[in-house]
Order: sequence, then C-alpha cells, then structure tokens
Amino acid sequence: MTKQRVLTGITTSGSPHLGNYVGAIRPAIEASRTGDYESFFFLADYHALIKSQDPDMVHQSTLEIAAAWLALGLDTDKVTFYRQSDIPEIPELTWLLTCMTAKGMMNRAHAYKGAVQTNVEAGEDEDAAISMGLFSYPILMAADILMFNAHKIPVGRDQIQHVEMARDIAQRFNHHYGEHFVLPAAQVSDDAAILQGLDGRKMSKSYGNTIPLFLTEKQLKKHINKINTNLLEPGEPKDPDTSSVFQIWKAFATVEQTAAMRLEFEKGIAWGEAKKQLFELINDQIKEPREKYLQLLENPAQVEAVLQKGALKAREQSAVLMAKARRSVGIRPLA
Ligand code: TRP
Repeated sequence: MTKQRVLTGITTSGSPHLGNYVGAIRPAIEASRTGDYESFFFLADYHALIKSQDPDMVHQSTLEIAAAWLALGLDTDKVTFYRQSDIPEIPELTWLLTCMTAKGMMNRAHAYKGAVQTNVEAGEDEDAAISMGLFSYPILMAADILMFNAHKIPVGRDQIQHVEMARDIAQRFNHHYGEHFVLPAAQVSDDAAILQGLDGRKMSKSYGNTIPLFLTEKQLKKHINKINTNLLEPGEPKDPDTSSVFQIWKAFATVEQTAAMRLEFEKGIAWGEAKKQLFELINDQIKEPREKYLQLLENPAQVEAVLQKGALKAREQSAVLMAKARRSVGIRPLA
C-alpha cells in the first residue's frame, strides 16, 4: 500500500515563532519520524509576496524559517523539504488551475472578504489596496497541494477553507480533464497546538502578538513577561483555563508538568513566578536547537545546498505531474 502523503508550508514573511513550532514544525517532524507518512514540507516564499513587498524581509525570513526546520531536527533524507519558488511547475500549475476556478468561489475566500470588510468599514473603495495575489491566493495554495498529490494537510483553523477550495478545484479539474489529482483534506491540530499569542488571540504574524522562537535568553524572558495576565495578586487562585501563560505552558509541558502547574494556579502562584517557570521550560527545550540555528544563519550556503537538493527531489515528481497536466489540457507538441 502506498503511504499517505502529508504536506504543509510556512509563509516566509517573518521570523519563526513559538506558534509555528508548536502548530506546524514540531508535529510535522514527529510525524515524519514515525515513517508512517511520506512528508512534503516547504517554504512558501511566493505566498510571502502577498503579505510583504520588502525583499530583504522575504529573503531573510526564508533563511530563518529554513534554518529553524533544520535546527529543530528535520531529517531531510526522510522527507522532501524545498522552497516553493524552486519548483517552476507550481506557478505553471497555478495558471491551469486558475482557469478551472470559479471567480465566485474566490469572492468567498476569508482572506479576501476580510480585506474588503476592512475597506468598507474605513469608508474606502471595496477593493482598495487589494492585489490579485491576495484575491487568488487560494489557487496558488491549491497548486502547492495538488502538485504532490498530498492527502493530508496539517493546518490551523484559519486555513481549512483554503484546503477545501483546493479539493473543489481538484474535483473540477478531474471531472473535466480526467483523474489527475488526489483530493486533499485538512488535518486540524487539537486545541493545545493552536498557541495563544501575547494578547490571548491565536499567535500569528498578522496580529503582531508572536514570541519569536529563537530569541536570546534575555529577550525570551522579556517576551514571556509581556504575556497578558489579570491583576490577581500572589496567593489568589487563578483560572488556568483562561490564562495564556498556562496555555503556552501546556504546549511545552508533559502531562505531569501540566497537572502540577494547574495545581499551582489553584494555589495562587504569582504571575511573575509562573512566567519564570515558563521561561525555563521553553528555554530548556530550545537551548540546543538555538545554537544550531545561529550556526546555520551564519552559513546560508549550507542551507541553500539543502534546499537545492530538496528541489531536485521535489521536481522529480512535479515535472512528471506537470507534463501530464499540460498534455491533458491540450498543450502538447503538434507532431
Ligand atoms: N497559507 C498558509 C498559511 O498562511 C501557508 C501555506 C501555503 C500552506 N501553501 C500551503 C499550508 C500549502 C499548507 C499547504 O499558513
């Protein structure tokens, strides 16, 4: 039996943060170690252009996110690890899919609708400052997914709609041109894996509430101290289930450590003390990868070489799929 394929990407529009680690990188690396899946992990740098027009930022973020995957122990011999823009078949497939995608479906995409809503509320034209990249972003994401015939797409809740759209587009293409694509399904991580940010909302670059993954110890302490808490004094019982400090603790702690901290909350642990313990818990786990990460940032050529190797491996598949897709739509030699 062929193995199920798992595929996920991280947009390279910022520094890797604790949310990327807990929600995407850690579970992806764990799944790849079981050997139960065939894994495809990539750096979504074309996606980054939708959010950022700062070339240095996109470039630096690509290095940082690649280095983070590697520093955290990704075994690139066991998975296919690549940069989206190294696979020219992805934008090529995007066009074929674009011509099979109903505009009406794109009108309903959350990211686009959210941007329109913001414009309307500000009294602007509906489409003010909205690029076609943002509008048709789900089609690029569909190409990422369908290119490797992935079955399972581990994503946050905000991305479920995009995976459903990829499925819809695949279905339409298959219906019209014959069976080409596997129909993908989103795999949503449990609650613990959607990390809260400093302000209690989902930790996300878009909210500016992230804790970067590889800060110096001093900066990490400072960020953890910024997590929102209430005004309860030491000794007053605190509710772990509404606390970001506890929620982040849970994402890094063992079951026993989580139970112990719950008890501490009930006994009224001081916020300062809880944060100090949280710092130590996280720092212990990322101390070693941090060293490796910093080394990799100093050696971009080493990271580049890994990506080039990954691109060769990925293209063995994408070239075959793309050649078949081109033929199926009528783009083929005349004789
Ligand atoms: N859009 C995703 C995000 O912002 C990143 C992404 C791009 C992705 N292509 C993908 C995730 C394909 C899964 C599969 O989080």
